[in-house]
Amino acid sequence: MATLAQPPLDHDRDDRKTADLYEQGKIFKKKAEVVYDGDRVKSILRSPHMMQDVFDAGAVGMKPEEVPLIFLDGKAHRDRRKHITSYFSPRYIKEHFEPLMRKTADMLVADLEKNKQLRIDEVSWQMAVTLVGDLIGVTRGKDREGMKKTAKRIENCLYATKMRTMTGWRLRYAKVRRIWDTMMFWRKDVLPTVKARRQTPQDDVISTLVKENYGDRAILADVMMLCGAGMQTTREFISMVAWHMLEKDYLKDAFLAADYEGKMGILEEILRLDPIVSTLYRRAPENLPENAKGEFTAGTRYGLSIRHANHDPALVGACPHAIDLSRKERLGDQAPMMSFGNGMHRCPGSPLAFNETLFLMDRLLRVPGIRLASSPRIEWEPNVSTFEITNVLVTCD
Ligand code: HEM
Repeated sequence: MATLAQPPLDHDRDDRKTADLYEQGKIFKKKAEVVYDGDRVKSILRSPHMMQDVFDAGAVGMKPEEVPLIFLDGKAHRDRRKHITSYFSPRYIKEHFEPLMRKTADMLVADLEKNKQLRIDEVSWQMAVTLVGDLIGVTRGKDREGMKKTAKRIENCLYATKMRTMTGWRLRYAKVRRIWDTMMFWRKDVLPTVKARRQTPQDDVISTLVKENYGDRAILADVMMLCGAGMQTTREFISMVAWHMLEKDYLKDAFLAADYEGKMGILEEILRLDPIVSTLYRRAPENLPENAKGEFTAGTRYGLSIRHANHDPALVGACPHAIDLSRKERLGDQAPMMSFGNGMHRCPGSPLAFNETLFLMDRLLRVPGIRLASSPRIEWEPNVSTFEITNVLVTCD
């Protein structure tokens, strides 16, 4: 990787866009022991004794196969995870996803060239839905109009998460809407794909689940989880990257001049600085083995501050709040820090998220005269403990 040009680093520089917002939203789950230290966060995420701290599926009447992969532990988790990992191998990304990423980037940027303006926070959603939808199977073979309708239905389903902070009639209405939106997505997108794959399997997640005889509810659970984990996160990431690069000419120039590894390093540094997922939770079981008791306390819930871990100077070195283009050379594979988690639940979709962002940015930032024409808005979304970026308008010559 060639050395990338950047202005001299000032030790007080703070390039974060989410620092103030995060302070507003720094609310951890009740009774959580909050962990800020980078090494400790890493060791909890990597410990085989720790469990996901979510609901008790048995208590809410769910069969194990209806629990989304991200909430499982142990063998059940390993068995389910292997259904998707092959879709993220470097070879599969290159051969299957790269042509789709390039084609989608060309199509979206053509809109900017034609209309001379474009909302990045909208195209980032279309990019994310197209790619993760293809992985799942629900957007394959759809034309642009069909794709937009699917994207809208998914957005309706996912944004039902906002109901967690609602009360009264708004909450009652949101609950009814959630059932309706999920049903529409199931009937118009998922079920037709399930039926088609029963006849003719393809290389997508729905085909794999059908082959393994998963029931309708189990298929829907994993599909919804992939939409949430893969689409919402990538949408905010693409908007964040565009915002940073369009504001800093040196960063945009360095990105466009860099080779593939160099571009990846810049994306990793932006995600380290402003991680989309700010907190993860783990629980030490009541029956914690004796040999783990020195390290963890049985029955304790740990709230892991990804943001603090990512900015811990002991792990990332000097100027932790600055974008430092030489950091990748020092940190190597560790450069994204905990932005994608770590250990057995580490995000399997990270190559998909980074490659789609890379191809879209590489195409978009080359448009002559491209510039930011608005002040992006960024809001804390307490329901999902992350932020949402809107109003990222660009124009061009
Ligand atoms: C910039 C975009 C993304 C970010 C910041 C992100 C972040 C994360 C994080 C922090 C975790 C760990 C959760 C935990 O330990 O509890 C995770 C897990 C996961 N992510 Fe991503 N992710 C992104 C994109 C994607 C994409 C594109 C996909 C593909 C569909 C995806 C699929 C998943 C899945 C399936 C899991 C659960 C893995 C498991 O439990 O074994 N993610 N992600």
